[in-house]
Amino acid sequence: MRKKALRLGVLVSGRGSNLQAIMDHVQRGELDAQVAVVLSDVRDAYALERARRAGIPAIAVPREDYPTKAAFNRALLDHLRGHNADLVILAGYLRILSDELVDAFQGRIMNIHPSLIPAFCGKGMHGLRVHQAALDYGVKISGVTVHFVEKDVDTGPIILQRAVPVEDDDTAETLAERVLFQEHQVYSEAIQLFAEGRLKVEGRRVRILPA
Ligand code: GRF
Repeated sequence: MRKKALRLGVLVSGRGSNLQAIMDHVQRGELDAQVAVVLSDVRDAYALERARRAGIPAIAVPREDYPTKAAFNRALLDHLRGHNADLVILAGYLRILSDELVDAFQGRIMNIHPSLIPAFCGKGMHGLRVHQAALDYGVKISGVTVHFVEKDVDTGPIILQRAVPVEDDDTAETLAERVLFQEHQVYSEAIQLFAEGRLKVEGRRVRILPA
């Protein structure tokens, strides 16, 4: 009998191109998972629209709809549990997760960051800021990192990284575009490794077990 597909709960705040890439990989049969629910703290995030078009439950959970931060975080957790999410995927989600959520999904939350962590990451480092910081520093290689999420921002064990060379005439926008292309491949690869039970966390290191 076929194993039950891994159920993904995807958290988004914006355009959702990573979400789209994941849905496309699932659709093409290249990722043994299913997007169970998409949640966004931004009511009109385009990512929600992408999910709805694909027939996936898409729920806006704006912070301002809840009297307290705790109530907001509880709602997120309830939606994830209500849709039986096995793995939480942060795909351009701009809020810091509550300790409760991180504890509830310990070792089962992934994030993607558009640089080679530990460079150009941490609080406030998102979007074009990341790429501008890489250009300002003058690095010759940037890239993308998929990592497990811990309570601190961008610090969890690294699952996969891909390098992207910086070109002399790069702007933050052109570098972002080439990094994004890699993001769209590598996130699904990381999720597939998780689905196959091939990620073994040993302290800060994530070992990839043979197939
Ligand atoms: C990506 O660059 C991702 O690395 C970062 O936020 C951006 C989200 O883009 N965490 P999108 O919404 O998936 O298009």
